[in-house]
Amino acid sequence: MEFCFTAEELAKRAFSGPPLTREEILYLLRAGEEEAEILFKAADLVRAQVFGPVVHLRAIIEFSNFCRNNCLYCGLRRENRRLPRYRMSAREVVQAAEEAASQGFKTVVLQSGEDPCWTPERLAEVVKEVKKLGVAVTLSVGELAYEDYALLKEAGADRYLLRHETADPELFARLKPDTSLTKRRRCLEWLKELGYETGAGCMVGLPGQSLESLAEDVLFMRELQAEMAGIGPFIPHPDTPLGKASPGSPFLTLKVLALTRLCLPYANLPATTATGVAQKGGREAALLCGANVVMPDVTPHRYRLLYQLYPGKAQADPHPNAFAYWQERLQALGRTVGQDLGFSPRPRGAS
Ligand code: 5AD
Ligand code: SF4
Repeated sequence: MEFCFTAEELAKRAFSGPPLTREEILYLLRAGEEEAEILFKAADLVRAQVFGPVVHLRAIIEFSNFCRNNCLYCGLRRENRRLPRYRMSAREVVQAAEEAASQGFKTVVLQSGEDPCWTPERLAEVVKEVKKLGVAVTLSVGELAYEDYALLKEAGADRYLLRHETADPELFARLKPDTSLTKRRRCLEWLKELGYETGAGCMVGLPGQSLESLAEDVLFMRELQAEMAGIGPFIPHPDTPLGKASPGSPFLTLKVLALTRLCLPYANLPATTATGVAQKGGREAALLCGANVVMPDVTPHRYRLLYQLYPGKAQADPHPNAFAYWQERLQALGRTVGQDLGFSPRPRGAS
């Protein structure tokens, strides 16, 4: 396919269409350095037009590393017996949230494995406490029943992150044997219906993942009209069945991110921790091709090493005051830190 474009033309299409076709997305996923630069510039233009220099910081608290699931790629999978498990108490979670809010964070993200001991009822009590701090609350605790999502929304949760991981149904079934892409999509639709700002997202470079299926990932997120999307490279964890697989390419990850920005101009897109672990300066690189969010880890140090989704994660945000640290790091990029709660600015009714 012959496809001529400038960054300005691509950026304009993000707002006024026509939307990128599957073929165009695939073409751009195959782009070499030179064409990728145009894609990256277009994504940066779109990001700048919607958000200006503002980057939102979200404090993430990983409050339990117990998981009932057995995803093949993840260090928290239930069959990883080498990992010591921890579960923070409600009080510890609220204290960590208070510390984050006092540093200046305006969003607290509560994430855990799918831990049955942390019932939706208990979590709802924590959400109510954290909401008293005047911050936005994002949850990321996996697949729940509709009623449980409703209960947590009622308790005050504003957003929910549930990456779809891969839009390839067979690959999904192989990598996540406890669930299915259909169930995942249903959860995401429930979350939308309940009024959560909803986050999908995928890993890039999973074993057996094709460029075609990455194009489907981008289309999946566009179709869902996700308000958030987390995109990061796959990083093999030695204590999983995929321990010897090759890691995802940082370059390809940035292309998926940039394409997602072109398809979802108003979405909050984090420069993910995995992007920073896979490549030195990776989070800065992501902020230059579409990302507008950073999610520093503020989990208490005694637990942090144990939230081992992939190696290197615990070392990514070593500074005791993550907010001040990132404020400085962003300043070096000419960016400022968002002062408000940082909801997606998508005008109602707009695509
Ligand atoms: N490499 C990269 N990302 C991973 N995640 C889990 N395991 C890995 C890994 N080995 C991501 C998944 C999950 C998020 C919390 O972490 O996408 O949704
Ligand atoms: Fe559990 Fe999530 Fe890891 Fe799967 S990816 S094993 S659901 S923590």
